[in-house]
Amino acid sequence: MGNTLGLGLGVGLGLGLCAGAGAVMQQAAAPNMEHLKRNTEALVTKVVTSRHQNNTEDIDESSAEGLRDAMSYAKENPMLIQVPVLGTARKFWRLSDKATRISRKLALILWNYHKAGRYLTAPLKVSNVWIGSTGSVKLRGASFSPKGFISIERVRDDYKHLSKVLILLIKTSGGDIDNLPPDYWEFLMLLGRGTFTMKDEFFIVNHVALLPMENRTEVFLMLHDRIVNYLGRTDRAKKKKILCNLPYKDNWLDTARANEVINKGVVKVQNEYRRTPIDLLRLNRNVRCHMHQYNSNNIEETLYCEWPELLMVMENMLHLVGELVDTGIENKFG
Ligand SMILES: *[C@@H]1O[C@H](CO)[C@@H](O)[C@H](O)[C@H]1NC(C)=O
Ligand SMILES: *[C@@H]1O[C@H](CO)[C@@H](O)[C@H](O)[C@H]1NC(C)=O
Repeated sequence: MGNTLGLGLGVGLGLGLCAGAGAVMQQAAAPNMEHLKRNTEALVTKVVTSRHQNNTEDIDESSAEGLRDAMSYAKENPMLIQVPVLGTARKFWRLSDKATRISRKLALILWNYHKAGRYLTAPLKVSNVWIGSTGSVKLRGASFSPKGFISIERVRDDYKHLSKVLILLIKTSGGDIDNLPPDYWEFLMLLGRGTFTMKDEFFIVNHVALLPMENRTEVFLMLHDRIVNYLGRTDRAKKKKILCNLPYKDNWLDTARANEVINKGVVKVQNEYRRTPIDLLRLNRNVRCHMHQYNSNNIEETLYCEWPELLMVMENMLHLVGELVDTGIENKFG
C-alpha cells in the first residue's frame, strides 16, 4: 500500500500552532489531590473530549488508581489473538480490543501534548506506560517540555518511540510480529516511517486499525456514506479516485463466494454483484445492514478477517483527499 502522506507541511504547521496556543505555558507532571480522587474513566473521557486542557491527567505518578506497569500487564494479556474466520476453516490473527485501545490512548496522549506545543523530553520507554484496571492508560516517569516552535522532527520522534514500545509490548504478550494484521502493521509503519506532517496526526490517532471491533460496522457505514453518497453528489472526481484505489479488485467476489456465511449475501441479492470496486462496497454494506439475517454477532469480525485492508484504504484515501475529519470517526474509539 503506497502511502503518500506528504501533503502540505505548511497547513500542518498552522493547525498545530492554533491548537496549541492556549496551553503552551502549563507544567506537565505534578498530580494534585483533587485529580487523584476523580474516577479514571472520567479522566480518560476528559482527555479525549477536551482539546485545550493541561493534559496533566495523562501523567500519573501515584498509585491511586491501581495502575500496573505495561510489561507485567502484557505478560498476562495476549495482545495478538487468533480467531476463527466464520464461514471458513481458516483462522486469523488480530489485535485484542484492549491492545488497540492501549495503542490509541498512547497515541492520543502524544497528540494532545503536541497540540499544546510539547514533546517528550526523553524517548518513551515501556517502563513509562501504566495500565489501569478500567482500561485507562497513563504515563509515569515521562515528561513533556514546551518548545518555542513546533518541530515536526520532535513529533515524529515521539511516534517512532511509541511504535517501538508497542512492538515490544506485543512481543512481550507472546505475539509474533509476523502475524500482525495488515492494518495494524500499516499503523506501526506510519508511526515508524517518520515522513508524516502535523496534519496527519488526526489520521494516525484515529487509524481504523485502532477501532474496537464492535464499532467497525458504524465506521464502515460512515466512511461508505462519505464516499458513495456525499462525494457522489459533491465531488465525483474524489469518489472515483477513492474507488480506483480500493484493494482486492481481482478476487473479492471469489473470496465472498468461498465464504459460506458471506456467500448467503451474494446469492440473495437482486442486482447481481459485478467485479467492480463499488460492488465490493455494496456487498460490504448489504451484509452489515442485514446482519440479523446472518444469525451471527461475529459477522463484522468475519468481514475484517476476509478483507482486513478495506476499511484502512477507505480511510487512507479519505484522508488523502481531505475528507476524513468531517466523517466524525474520532468519536468511535471509546
Ligand atoms: C490547568 O492546571 C492548573 C493548575 O496546574 C489548573 O488550575 C487548571 O484548572 C488546569 N486547566 C485545565 C483546563 O485543566
Ligand atoms: C463505540 O462508539 C460509541 C460512540 O458511537 C462510543 O461511545 C463507544 O464507547 C464505542 N465503543 C467502544 C467499545 O469503544
